[in-house]
Amino acid sequence: MVNSQCIEIPDGHKGYSLSNFCVPKHYEEDLENIMIPSGLIQDRIERLARDIFQDVKDEPLTALCVLKGGYRFCTDLLDKITTLNRSHGSVSVPVNVDFIRLKSYENDESTGEIHVVGGDNLSSLQGQNVLVVEDIIDTGRTMQKLLGILWKYNPKTIRVASLLVKRRTESTGYRPNFCGFEIPDKFVVGYALDYNEYFRDLNHICVINENGKHKYAVTKQ
Ligand code: HPA
Ligand code: MG
Repeated sequence: MVNSQCIEIPDGHKGYSLSNFCVPKHYEEDLENIMIPSGLIQDRIERLARDIFQDVKDEPLTALCVLKGGYRFCTDLLDKITTLNRSHGSVSVPVNVDFIRLKSYENDESTGEIHVVGGDNLSSLQGQNVLVVEDIIDTGRTMQKLLGILWKYNPKTIRVASLLVKRRTESTGYRPNFCGFEIPDKFVVGYALDYNEYFRDLNHICVINENGKHKYAVTKQ
């Protein structure tokens, strides 16, 4: 099983100005910059799909999409894997999809626990080659807890594909097998990554600004 290298976005990266790309009007005031434009996201996923395809070749794969943040990455990644299935006559990877839903964030703070608030019956993972599809690995604690839960169902293998890995001093050091981009320690939204459920309907991965954090904050009673 491989551990592929991320594209590293350096700490000093200024991102792209909102004026250079199309952004929904309702979010214009709430974003600092565009960190990863949607075209680059798609190009990177195309390569991740190829790396995964070549790694698992000829064995069935159960993609486990971590909702909600992972849904766009999961659909785009599986689309690209199925395209490879159509064009590589001798090699093919039958793909199955399953879902799990976790929650660990309120505002931009981790609450420390993970809550499984939805998902299918995980006993179907027994004997399967599981590919966990996640949007972002932050400290790594959520993924390590999730892997602890998943191994109890006796899958054959578990691979993890995360579109983003955040560089954090609090990181546990956990690294996924497949990773799109390693990003600076900033709160990012878009491409299904949310801030209190907002910004999923944004195609680029962007840095939220103070105005956005304030406007969409959850007020605790
Ligand atoms: N954005 C959205 N969700 C997240 C992030 C982030 O930067 N980090 C962990 N979960
Ligand atoms: Mg997530």
